[in-house]
Amino acid sequence: MSDKRVIAVGGATGAQGGSLVRAILRDKNSEFRARAITRDANSEKARALTKAGAEVVEADVDDLQSLVKAFEGAYGAFCVTFFWEHFSAEKEKLQAKNMAEAAKQSGVQHVIWSSLEDTRRWIPLSDDRMPTLQEKYKVPHFDAKGEANAFFTERQLPVTILNTSFYWENMIHFGTGPKKGENGKLAITFPMGDKQLPSISSEDIGKCAYGIFKKGSEYIGKTIGIAGEFISGAQMAAVLTKALGQEVVYNDVPPEVYRSFGFPGADDMGNMFQFKRDFEKEYTASRDISLARKLNPDLQDFQTWLAKNKDRIPLE
Ligand SMILES: NC(=O)c1ccc[n+]([C@@H]2O[C@H](COP(=O)([O-])OP(=O)(O)OC[C@H]3O[C@@H](n4cnc5c(N)ncnc54)[C@H](OP(=O)(O)O)[C@@H]3O)[C@@H](O)[C@H]2O)c1
Repeated sequence: MSDKRVIAVGGATGAQGGSLVRAILRDKNSEFRARAITRDANSEKARALTKAGAEVVEADVDDLQSLVKAFEGAYGAFCVTFFWEHFSAEKEKLQAKNMAEAAKQSGVQHVIWSSLEDTRRWIPLSDDRMPTLQEKYKVPHFDAKGEANAFFTERQLPVTILNTSFYWENMIHFGTGPKKGENGKLAITFPMGDKQLPSISSEDIGKCAYGIFKKGSEYIGKTIGIAGEFISGAQMAAVLTKALGQEVVYNDVPPEVYRSFGFPGADDMGNMFQFKRDFEKEYTASRDISLARKLNPDLQDFQTWLAKNKDRIPLE
C-alpha cells in the first residue's frame, strides 16, 4: 500500500472527483492510491470515502497553502473548480490559479485540469447573437475554465487539459430531466434544435481521468475532449420514452426563452446551449468518444446510463 503513488483528487465528494476516487479504489491492483480532498473530513460523504479506503485530507480551493499541503508528496493531482457553488467566472479563475500554483509548488508529476472551451474564440464579445454576461464572458462557466488553461501551461506544468461534457446526471441533480407540461406530457427542454449534444455520465469522467493517469506521460502536454455519446434532444426523448415506459417529447425552445427561465445560471446555460447548437461541428469535433472508450472501456452511452439510473430521475 505505502509504495503506491498518490493521486490527490479535488472535489472528491462531488461528481467528477468522486468518480475518480471510486475508479482508483475499485482497482485492487492499482499502482495508485487516492487522496481525497474535501473542505470537511467529517462530513458524511468524506467519512464514506475514508471507510472505502481513501486517504481524506482537508483543503479549500480558495486557500493556496491548504492546497499545497494537500498536494504535497503526490504523484498526480486532479484539478476541478466549482462554478455552480458561486456562479462567478472571476472566482473560478482564482480557484484554478490556486490549483495550478499548488501543483507547481508541490512538484506533482502529472496534473489533470478539468476544463472547457473559451467560447469567445468563436463568439467574440462584439457578437450580439447572445448577451455578454458578467461583463466579459459569453458562457462564463466555459470561458473562465478555458482562460484558466493558461495558469497551468504558463507554469509549464505536466498537464493534461481534459475537456469534459454535459452530464446526464444533470437530470437527477440539476433539473434538466423530463417535466410535465400543461398538456400533462413529459418533456425535456433545451435550445439545441436538431443538433447533437456531446454528453456523458459524470461517473465516466473519473474513469477516463484514471485511464489518463495510468497511461503515464502519454497525455501530458495534450488537450483531450471526452463524451459518451453525441445525442440530439429528439433522440434523447426517444430513449427516455422507451426506458420510462411513457412518452417524453423534446421541447426545443429558442435560446432567449431558455435564458429567461429565471433559475440561477439560466442565462449562462442558455448561452452554453446556443454555443453548442451554433458550433455543433466544431464542438463535436473536439470530443472523441473512441478515445474516451480507450481510456475507459466501461464508457456508457445514454441508453446504458438510463437503464441503470432512470429511477433516480425525479419525475413531476
Ligand atoms: N454539470 C455538468 O454537466 C458539467 C459538465 C462539465 C463540467 N462541469 C463543471 O464541473 C464543475 C463541478 O464539478 P462537479 O460536478 O464534480 O462538482 P460537484 O459534484 O458539485 O461537487 C463539488 C464538490 O466540490 C467541493 N467544493 C466546493 N467548493 C469547494 C472549495 N471552495 N474548496 C474545496 N472543495 C470545494 C465540495 O466538496 P466538500 O463540500 O466536501 O468540500 C463538493 O463535493 C463545475 O465547475 C462545472 O462547470 C459540469
